[in-house]
Amino acid sequence: QEPELSRLFELADKIRKIAKSKDGLDFLQTILSHKRAVLYFAQPSTRTYLSFNNACQILGIQTSDMRSSGYSSEVKGESLEDTLETMHSYTDMIIMRHVEENIAEKAAWMFNESEKPIPVINAGSGPHEHPTQALLDAYTLHRAFKGKVKNKVIAVIGDIKRGRAVRSLIYMLSNFEGIKFVFLSPPELGLPDDLRQFLGKNSISFEESDNLDKLLRRADVFYYTRIQDEYDKQHESKSIDYSRFWLKKEHLSHMKSEAVILHPLPRRNEIPPEIDGDKRAWYWKQEVNGLWMRAAIIAHVFKEDGYILNYK
Ligand code: CP
Repeated sequence: QEPELSRLFELADKIRKIAKSKDGLDFLQTILSHKRAVLYFAQPSTRTYLSFNNACQILGIQTSDMRSSGYSSEVKGESLEDTLETMHSYTDMIIMRHVEENIAEKAAWMFNESEKPIPVINAGSGPHEHPTQALLDAYTLHRAFKGKVKNKVIAVIGDIKRGRAVRSLIYMLSNFEGIKFVFLSPPELGLPDDLRQFLGKNSISFEESDNLDKLLRRADVFYYTRIQDEYDKQHESKSIDYSRFWLKKEHLSHMKSEAVILHPLPRRNEIPPEIDGDKRAWYWKQEVNGLWMRAAIIAHVFKEDGYILNYK
């Protein structure tokens, strides 16, 4: 596992521990109180937006937000680049969710070349990538398996073709030795060619399956996603039957006692709420981990790791 990942896990654990007391929270809130951030979310979000906003508050960063490009001067014909340049003028960090592929990287590149380089964090880019989700997913597995993530069988279930969380998860978990992926999806939403090539090229073991029952006793992790029908061209998802892969209460007795059920959320019917109370259902803890991992990411970006880790 990459040392930078271990450092982020350690930092997230430390921030979470420090934040338990008022003194600790007061300390954290001094760390970046000289910084301002803008949260630009041009696609809908509940938890990524809220966790980033709260992570900023925990570290003392003041935030402003733009929760739709419909509120920006893009509706008056301004280019996205000019909108981002304006955010760059006023703040010290941009956290952005946008449908356009690589726009966060493009903005970061643009600002790195300027007199005022500022960090740009990708909080989800269309169906392409969701890197901070992958970090919080890896952090959740690190906690669930007490640091022993290697050699696990990871079942990835749902919309593998268009799920940005899935794509970033595959890239992320490839950092762990001996990981094996099993992909379960309706055939229309299966593994895209570029991910297949990535896995092949990096000698990462994977298989595709159509049978949830056979996987129940075998998988260590069940990573569910919903169908990403916001990317439908002509409501084609309506004719896709995903129900045979949905998790049901009767499946639980066949699963390993130490299995971990994850979902980046929001969910629909793929995991019913009656499973939430099972000790293997980690998705609500996964959501909470997002707050601490995002606080760690921000602190790391501003090179405050050492200061925080040395806090007694
Ligand atoms: N997991 C995730 O990205 O959720 P939101 O869309 O609610 O931010």
